[in-house]
Amino acid sequence: MTDPDTLLTQALERARVAPDDEALRALDREFLQKGGVVANLLASIPTLPPDQRKATGQKANQIKQALEAALAARKAELEEAALASERSGAGFDATLPGAKQERGGLHPITQVTRELEDLFTSMGWMVLDGPEVELDWYNFEALNIPKDHPARDMQDTFFCDVSTKNAHERDLSGKVVMRTHTSPVQVRAMERLKPPFRAIVPGKVFRNESTDASHEHTFHQMEGLCIGKDVSVGHLIGAMKTLLRGIFGREIEIRLRPGYFPFVEPGFELDARCPFCKDGCSVCKRSTWIELLPCGMVHPNVLKAGGIDPEQWTGFAFGLGLSRLVMLRHGIDDVRMLLSGDLRFLEQF
Ligand code: DAH
Repeated sequence: MTDPDTLLTQALERARVAPDDEALRALDREFLQKGGVVANLLASIPTLPPDQRKATGQKANQIKQALEAALAARKAELEEAALASERSGAGFDATLPGAKQERGGLHPITQVTRELEDLFTSMGWMVLDGPEVELDWYNFEALNIPKDHPARDMQDTFFCDVSTKNAHERDLSGKVVMRTHTSPVQVRAMERLKPPFRAIVPGKVFRNESTDASHEHTFHQMEGLCIGKDVSVGHLIGAMKTLLRGIFGREIEIRLRPGYFPFVEPGFELDARCPFCKDGCSVCKRSTWIELLPCGMVHPNVLKAGGIDPEQWTGFAFGLGLSRLVMLRHGIDDVRMLLSGDLRFLEQF
């Protein structure tokens, strides 16, 4: 083994000329850390003849202290030098372009959601939220879609695998789904709010779909619900025309067709006159009408499920497809782009 004094001299010299922090750390590892020179020296003591033990211990400590001091001194020197060079301005070129700050933007769905929230709150509507993981009761049964009813086939569901008992010891197996629409929040709102009230519910919904350009397992809707005294189809039409005017910035002709949704009676498909053409284009499939807004008068059974007396109160509801609306607005031909997270797509908005 090299004799300790030589080792120390060498280490101190290396510390004195160490070019950077990394070199200092290397010395620290080699001499002072576990398994390093000092530790080995100390470990060798029991194997030495008794008369050498004390001197070796002292030597180890001396190396440790001397080297620690040398490392600290060199570190301070290096820091001082770095600061001085920075202060001198050497190597700084004021004419080089700066680092560009990337700016984010709002997703087109967020944009349209916010616009619609502004529009509806300006008319005195509330904006509500509901759970994306929903009880079968709210997603289907309370909306007048009983178990085993064929209407369930309209919306294929993701069932959640929950432990069979929740905190309230209720058996939830097979009863928890990813919500297939924003309509369940209708009933949740009825339970919590006293009529009259008006609310919109923008949010994410999920379906067990084979995905293609017009089907996605996750997409966005905006539910609307207005409950009051003597609310009629006239109010529904008025609100829908205002909604379309807000979206397209001008009066849009509409038509109502009968539509079947178990939670409304009568139910309608509200079509808007194609805003992009006069006599047929690819967006409206040459029909000049765009199917946009399913809606209707809230079914008495749904009011009852929400604890509202259908003899006293009536209401209308609608379910706007936000994803579809964004596609129409921007001419996007594949719904899967919306949640792809692809920056080349997103940076266009
Ligand atoms: N929840 C329906 C769906 O996702 C859409 C809908 C239809 C909502 C009629 C409504 C309504 O509020 O009145 O297919």
